[in-house]
Amino acid sequence: MSMSKLLTFKGTDLTVTWDKTICTHAEECIRTDSKLFEKGRSPWGQPDLVEAEEVDRIVRRCPSGALQYGATIESAIGNTPGSSKNEGAEQPEPENTVTVVPNGPLYVRGNLSIVGSDPENPTSARRVALCRCGHSKNKPFCDNSHVEAGFQDTGAVGREGPGLEEKGGVLQVQTNKNGSVRLIGNVTVKAASGCSRWNGPKVSMCRCGLSKQKPFCDGSHREGNFEAE
Ligand code: SF4
Ligand code: FES
Repeated sequence: MSMSKLLTFKGTDLTVTWDKTICTHAEECIRTDSKLFEKGRSPWGQPDLVEAEEVDRIVRRCPSGALQYGATIESAIGNTPGSSKNEGAEQPEPENTVTVVPNGPLYVRGNLSIVGSDPENPTSARRVALCRCGHSKNKPFCDNSHVEAGFQDTGAVGREGPGLEEKGGVLQVQTNKNGSVRLIGNVTVKAASGCSRWNGPKVSMCRCGLSKQKPFCDGSHREGNFEAE
């Protein structure tokens, strides 16, 4: 998986970074009245044109986590997006949530710890878009391959889960080889329609696109011979 290739928009107090390898081109950043981002402008991101609160508000809209911000300190930007080590960085939302996008990815938000190839060194993040069609070339992240693959799922959430005793805390995002993505920690899985939701302390989400109980894993990845690191 890749979480690099950063473009940096440096402001006096805040610096915004954009990672094109995980941008899903949802355009939430430019469809605003804000002057922070403007399509076709060079550079298209200019943090000094708006107040810090506006940088926070607009960057938080980015569902993929491609946009991040932090204090303008050379060493603090880029390596650990959203990291609490950077005092000016985005604070996590009080709840960990997964929004199931119809025919598209899982938008995960909260206090995320992404467990990669080195489990001892997870990456901290606030927002990620995870592939659930099985076709991304940048797994576990979405790269919009669901469009070409013709992935179809309404995004309904059929079960309600065991419930939560508390909200928030770290949510570990862990991918199983050739199988599901496991979310460990307090989490709410919501249908994009807002009509249904699951709550619980851990859950396995389908990322092969084959489950008959989407968005949850039902073991179909085995019969489908799904392959993913
Ligand atoms: S994924 Fe983020 S950076 Fe990419 S277009 Fe959407 S809001 Fe902008
Ligand atoms: S990952 Fe799709 S059914 Fe398990």
